[in-house]
Amino acid sequence: MKILMISSEAVPFAKTGGLADAVSSLSLALAERGHDVRILLPRYYSIPREKLKMIPGPLGVPMGGREEWCAVYEGELTTLGGKARVPVYCIDHEGFFGRDGIYGTYSEPDFRDNPYRFAFFSRAAFQVCRKLHWIPDILHAHDWPAALVPVYLKYLERFRDFEKTYSVFTIHNLGYQGIYGKDAYHYFGLDWSLFSAAGFEDWDRLNLLKAALTSADKLTTVSPTYAEETKTPAYGFRMDGVLRARAADYVGILNGIDTTIWNPRTDPYIPRPYSAEDLSGKALAKETLQKNFGLPQDPSVPIVGMVGRLTDQKGIGELFGPNYGAAWSICTELRLQMVVLGSGERWCEQELRSLASRLPNLKVMIGYDEKTSHLIEAGSDFFLMPSRYEPCGLNQMYSLVYGTPPIVRRTGGLADSVENYNQQTGEGTGFMFDDLTPRAIYDTVGWAIWAYYNRPDHITAMRKRGMQQDFSWNRSASRYEALYQAFFS
Ligand code: ADP
Ligand code: GLC
Repeated sequence: MKILMISSEAVPFAKTGGLADAVSSLSLALAERGHDVRILLPRYYSIPREKLKMIPGPLGVPMGGREEWCAVYEGELTTLGGKARVPVYCIDHEGFFGRDGIYGTYSEPDFRDNPYRFAFFSRAAFQVCRKLHWIPDILHAHDWPAALVPVYLKYLERFRDFEKTYSVFTIHNLGYQGIYGKDAYHYFGLDWSLFSAAGFEDWDRLNLLKAALTSADKLTTVSPTYAEETKTPAYGFRMDGVLRARAADYVGILNGIDTTIWNPRTDPYIPRPYSAEDLSGKALAKETLQKNFGLPQDPSVPIVGMVGRLTDQKGIGELFGPNYGAAWSICTELRLQMVVLGSGERWCEQELRSLASRLPNLKVMIGYDEKTSHLIEAGSDFFLMPSRYEPCGLNQMYSLVYGTPPIVRRTGGLADSVENYNQQTGEGTGFMFDDLTPRAIYDTVGWAIWAYYNRPDHITAMRKRGMQQDFSWNRSASRYEALYQAFFS
């Protein structure tokens, strides 16, 4: 099948979170299964033109009653050994993408012209296909920046060259919807009669994600539990009604992880590779982690690691919130060390710095650092993820295959990838709790630390069990494949 992925992020070109990992690895996994998969991405300023090949000739995109001109550049993704190849088309438009930032900057987190930028990007998908004389069977759009793709297909393009093309829209995070003033609508080139029919209407504003949820042929999200949760008011971010109405076309498919990058047997970022049979490399990673972060080098003290975006979604209020967060009691009352790598909300970055200055066993690195994230996954004894909601989550899967049992809230993809510890039988792969409260986080970290000191045989068995799990993309890719094929049978 011919499949075009439309996404605002794809590793290694542009990344702010797991979306970038998911899109690239899913594309490669499908290409390995023999499909003709290609990716469409904006050419952000951070993607150097020199690394890409220019496709000759300008591309005209009809927007707001006129033609918007851009250039198209081509890059590629390949699997290790070059077995599978995925072309990556980058839309080059100086006015929209010739600036720092993907969605915004530190001072302007959401660019004012985002509805214009991403509407143009979505419409360009169709023009690129025409230019290449390559009409895909499937247009697979990801998250709100690509939300107009299914809308354009359904209401404009299906009547032209895309008669036999179907759309799939994947929700990676319902918390970001692309809600803007209605004044941007005229630029989309859609009739006003569609404003409500296509699902844009949202309390006198326009909601891009809602239009995709209404218009796409099929909807997916990145774990079965999140698919269920999003149909309820507690997790639906006001979209639960729309999703319930579309329940027959909506499924959850758990993401995989890229095992060529996240594999303790081959990881170049850790001091010595290791496996479930020989964990000595893990002990060395712990030593290096302690050294790099200036912690006392004591192999007997457990390390709790954490990596991620510091946003409300990740439970940072309950963990680090001033006055009531769990971190203070975790670090003062339990015998452990804690290492945190992340960036995000400013209050949280500041609070972390201030906590670290008062707690000798808490070390913090504010920023984004690929290499250190690998060392934390490998060198920690436990990995903490107390998410408020988690559509899939990749870090807990990384930590499982690195032999680092995760401590997680039972939600979304965390519920689907971790199995809770049973202290009677020693079964399980991690530690879970339900209520997002400082008390529950503290208690569950405490439970893991108790097991570390008092049930070391259980912990070793848990590490090995996690390392033997198969989170490779192949299984998930076959489920997407079946979803695509159902359109044509
Ligand atoms: P989300 O997409 O909600 O941020 P995921 O767990 O799906 O959560 O994916 C996060 C991805 O971003 C992982 O690959 C993780 O390692 C990476 N990541 C997040 N923050 C950092 C950071 N500060 N340094 C390095 N990698 C990070
Ligand atoms: C989102 C979600 C995360 C998921 C990722 C990839 O960023 O927050 O849970 O793993 O997308 O699908």
